[in-house]
Amino acid sequence: MRLILLGPPNAGKGTQAQSLINTYQIPQISTGDIFRANIKQETPLGKKAKNYLDQGLLVPDELVVDIVTDRLQKDDCQNGFLLDGFPRTVVQAEALEQFLKEHQQNLDQVLNIQVRTEVLVERAVGRRVCQQCGATFHIKFKPPTKDNVCDVCGGQVIQRKDDQRETAEKRIKVYEQETSPLIDYYEKRDLLVTIDGEQSIDKVTADILNALKDA
Ligand code: AP5
Ligand code: MG
Repeated sequence: MRLILLGPPNAGKGTQAQSLINTYQIPQISTGDIFRANIKQETPLGKKAKNYLDQGLLVPDELVVDIVTDRLQKDDCQNGFLLDGFPRTVVQAEALEQFLKEHQQNLDQVLNIQVRTEVLVERAVGRRVCQQCGATFHIKFKPPTKDNVCDVCGGQVIQRKDDQRETAEKRIKVYEQETSPLIDYYEKRDLLVTIDGEQSIDKVTADILNALKDA
């Protein structure tokens, strides 16, 4: 299964990715996670990307495309993949299309998780993530069993820097300007399925799995 999770910041892409990678046994490729890991390790890529992430801006296309196309050539992507947070611009979508064509592969589905802006901001300010394994929580909707301790690995649970209200709002604006044209892009290619992302986490998962039955 070759899938893309599309949707604004805090729509629930990472949350839903967890169920999908287990169901289909495919790797999750989250460009945001890749950048955060590089920033933490202070790699050359991390140093280039840091300012963009901190400000809620997109990392330039040329830095993103090569990382993803390299990743897609790894053995674990042979049976498929789940792209989370990529593509985010039409230039990235075209580069992916070209890559897949060259490798005689097709996308199966693009899942567009739809959530209104006011709900996105509430999700952003309440989100907490594990510093160690990246597991995602929410102080109201999905609190960790023990305050600030990850249920999965016992690591420390913190707030992402770009989840402060102002930066979260900025990321939504960037999404509207640069990423939302992809809805039309994939609709035209007959690949888009829109999912109501304002339901409970489990109901969103159920709707996604149902939509993928025919993919
Ligand atoms: P990235 O890490 O991809 O951030 P994002 O797209 O802004 O998405 P988020 O991770 O914020 O949200 P999500 O949809 O995964 O939601 P989640 O499941 O956590 O990118 C970060 C940055 O990296 C970008 O700003 C950019 O700088 C750079 N970047 C990354 N990719 C790039 C690219 N391709 N090109 C250029 N730059 C790139 O859920 C959110 C919260 O809501 C959680 O607390 C969760 O528990 C809760 N929640 C989830 N679902 C529900 C539900 N149904 N009901 C109630 N609460 C819910
Ligand atoms: Mg995410």
